[in-house]
Amino acid sequence: MAPIQLLQVGCGGMGLRHIYGLIELRERGFDSFDLIALCDRNASSAEYVAGVAEKGLGIRPRIYSDSRDMLDAERSAEAVNIVTDTAAHHELALLAFEAGLHVVVEKPMALTVRACRTMISASKSAGLVLSVSENYRRDPINRMTKALLESGIIGDIRLSINLFTMGGPDVRQAAAWRHLKNRGGMILDYGVHVSDLTLYMLGDVERVYAETHLWQKTRKIAEPPDRMRKFYQHRVKEDFEEESSIIEASSEDTGVAVLRFISGAIGQITYSDASPGESSDTDIIYGSKGSLRLSVSRSGQPVKVTFLGRSDPVDSNDLLNEIPNFRLDEVTSRIFGSGDRIYQYDSSFDESDRKLIAVELQDFYGAVTSGRSPEVSGDVGLDAVAFSYAILESGHLSRPVVFNDVRQDRINSYQQEINEIINI
Ligand SMILES: NC(=O)c1ccc[n+]([C@@H]2O[C@H](COP(=O)([O-])OP(=O)(O)OC[C@H]3O[C@@H](n4cnc5c(N)ncnc54)[C@H](O)[C@@H]3O)[C@@H](O)[C@H]2O)c1
Repeated sequence: MAPIQLLQVGCGGMGLRHIYGLIELRERGFDSFDLIALCDRNASSAEYVAGVAEKGLGIRPRIYSDSRDMLDAERSAEAVNIVTDTAAHHELALLAFEAGLHVVVEKPMALTVRACRTMISASKSAGLVLSVSENYRRDPINRMTKALLESGIIGDIRLSINLFTMGGPDVRQAAAWRHLKNRGGMILDYGVHVSDLTLYMLGDVERVYAETHLWQKTRKIAEPPDRMRKFYQHRVKEDFEEESSIIEASSEDTGVAVLRFISGAIGQITYSDASPGESSDTDIIYGSKGSLRLSVSRSGQPVKVTFLGRSDPVDSNDLLNEIPNFRLDEVTSRIFGSGDRIYQYDSSFDESDRKLIAVELQDFYGAVTSGRSPEVSGDVGLDAVAFSYAILESGHLSRPVVFNDVRQDRINSYQQEINEIINI
């Protein structure tokens, strides 16, 4: 099969990381994509990322600063990878479908539930693939976790607790748009990972009750954290980030949600990036026979299963015996390179990050070339966005919401202002 002729829009921090994902694929022997052009409204960002692509892939992609110009000029293109910040996702996807191109788009799939639904219907009417780049579920340890839960190792699921708190007055990951309601605040931007993993591990949610709040009303533009600096150093600040080092936040930074799953299990998700002092990152599921603590995605650490009446967790190696049929898919095992039954791995954040991007892009390749659905299809991507909005809608309305009402866009009063701005 010939490589897919690929365009990429968005050359900020994640845009660069996608190039490392493409290089990883090539180095592992997958000749799946020819990256023919890059677009960013900041030409210098596109130039920088093109340099990295040239070094790692052997060919320098052409550069554009306007996506319409790129779509007009690149007649051999077959697909677009959308890695801009979330506000542009749906508009760019619609343009791509109009031009007859398949689309792979970073999470969150789009700014609102309605925007996601518009993308799904455009992809269906055009008969083109729509795939969402959700990386966390693809971590080999999360694949094993799902197999363990399905095996019934901790019995009937009763309770799931997800707690992520941190503090500080700085903008997250160098980009101030992450604190603006109309551009996708943190409960959408980070929360959508939790939403997708929760639905992946525990199945559909019936209803959600949440309290939400914006505590940190101003934030300071600061250097990205060390781990992210190399990815974001070329990023060009937006005008409003240049004008002042302090920005006004407009999206909720704290949400505490209580969930009822269709299965009957109960759950709780707490997210806050306005909780100074001790931070926490805990994801634990309780069943009738014991508990399962999830691994932090991309850490390579094993899951911890602790049985009723025992204080020590089960030896991680023994966990594999509980799931004799568990196998990673061929692409993941080839890219992670330690066989198809791994319960931990030892790689740096950068390495695991690019491997997971490689896996998701290869899934997109498979969907385009074979006609099958991608794993994280538009419908799956929509569910994760709707779940994050169920929390925000419930907090806004001060009452529980039925998840399906949010997914179907029947409850949308929090999102109304955003839908008006993006004109849908
Ligand atoms: N999966 C993950 O782990 C992960 C991690 C970080 C970011 N992301 C996602 O990746 C996306 C990008 O995030 P980021 O951190 O790279 O943001 P960023 O601000 O660093 O980069 C966004 C880039 O898109 C460009 N851009 C925006 N609109 C454009 C348009 N219409 N045409 C051309 N260029 C345009 C900007 O100029 C900027 O260079 C977001 O959706 C974010 O949620 C995912």
